[in-house]
Amino acid sequence: MKGSVGIGLRRDIADEVLSSDIIHPDFIEFAPENWMGMGGYWNRIRQRAVEKYPVSCHGLSLSLGSPEELDWNFIKDLKVFLDENKVTVFSEHLSYTKSNNAHLYDLLPIPFREDAVDHVADRIKKVQDFLGRQIAIENVSYYTPVAAEMTESQFINSIVEKADCKLLLDVNNVYVNAFNHKYDAKVFIDQMPLDKVEYIHMAGHEQIEEDLIIDTHGKAIIDPVFDLFEYTIQKMHPVPVLLERDYNFEDLPAISAELEKLRSLIKNHWEAVHETSK
Ligand SMILES: [Fe+2]
Repeated sequence: MKGSVGIGLRRDIADEVLSSDIIHPDFIEFAPENWMGMGGYWNRIRQRAVEKYPVSCHGLSLSLGSPEELDWNFIKDLKVFLDENKVTVFSEHLSYTKSNNAHLYDLLPIPFREDAVDHVADRIKKVQDFLGRQIAIENVSYYTPVAAEMTESQFINSIVEKADCKLLLDVNNVYVNAFNHKYDAKVFIDQMPLDKVEYIHMAGHEQIEEDLIIDTHGKAIIDPVFDLFEYTIQKMHPVPVLLERDYNFEDLPAISAELEKLRSLIKNHWEAVHETSK
């Protein structure tokens, strides 16, 4: 899967991804929560997808930053799902979605604090021990930092080191945060533990105010995010790259063209470097 391009398997485009000649990913990504325990038609779609493509999984509900105990029933089911679907990479958001049994259905920012590093790293280690694999944590977009006592890059570096986990680097999220919080995206990329990156996300976003971008996954990737992607991949080893698209699938040829653009950038940078170093 290294240096390959994939797309999330959404129900809106499942038929096209499985059957049509319009779109050609190298692999697909499941949100396991959307497919676990599914019977009938959608279970058959999942099976066909697994037969046709390598699969990665991007979790939604581990809620690594929550104060309460991890949901072990869910994690047991998750382990079975990852094994059954021969999942190569499993990732989760560096955020939380639950508090006191309330599912908040949003990715909330964890305070960038020393005690949060200890808490989250400990939870990641427990999950990794149980699953028998390293997981990749994703830098999320956030709209206000909460009670920060360190920078986001220090926070991410500390957790990756302490938990001995991998990083899912979402390049669009870096761009969105850099724009909203007014810092230099390339400097942030330079501060990331790039040798620990296992997977990359690319996506579109929406600028809703002069000074505010929302990470929507519903529009085409803009050129400055492609530029940041090129900047990033020149500094690191090949990993799988996923195009995140959650809705607005009407123009599938345009989405397919985005995949091809990612593929060609990967070819230019990763394969060229690989060839010259042989
Ligand atoms: Fe992402």
